[in-house]
Amino acid sequence: MTMKHIINNGNNDTTLLLLHGTGGNEQDMLPLSGLIDNDANVLSVRGNVSEQGMPRFFRRIAEGIFDEEDLVKRTHELNDFITTTAQENNLNRNNVVAVGYSNGANIAASLMYHDKDALHAAILFHPMVPLRNIELPDLTGKKVFIGAGVNDPISPRQETEELAQTLTAAGADVEIFWHQSGHSLTQEEVQHAAEWYKSL
Ligand code: MLT
Repeated sequence: MTMKHIINNGNNDTTLLLLHGTGGNEQDMLPLSGLIDNDANVLSVRGNVSEQGMPRFFRRIAEGIFDEEDLVKRTHELNDFITTTAQENNLNRNNVVAVGYSNGANIAASLMYHDKDALHAAILFHPMVPLRNIELPDLTGKKVFIGAGVNDPISPRQETEELAQTLTAAGADVEIFWHQSGHSLTQEEVQHAAEWYKSL
């Protein structure tokens, strides 16, 4: 299935996969890509699910309670879409770095939970644990940056830590940057993510 998206060709081998939060769209994250890697290719995708008109990447039953069947289905759908789009645009499928916020970070984490080859690395702003009771693939060599707020009511601290521990146990190299704010994306965490990205 196709997904509404924006694609911009850059000057290096990396593709930044931009994934917005609930109610956002494929325009939202574009300024971030310039701050992280102005030379990268950009694939910015709009979630295929609509929650009362708000785009999302998978259905939820309530705030923080995910429709796991839909999440798994949408994860595969997004993964296939990335593969097809990379092929059609001559992008290196093995060098896709996700940059996701909130719901977009959750589907990015789910991509890593399901397929070790889905992402080269990921920047997850305010993610949650996408699902439990799943065996993760071997994520050795994968790098993950998590930006989180100690006062985030949607992604509480223990949830962030559980996600980081689960990814680490699967072999990923995870860095968490904590700030004092809530669920909103801060300039500070974007700057830290951009700094972390240089070490990829
Ligand atoms: C989700 O549903 O993915 C999380 O609650 C975050 C969000 O509201 O987007």
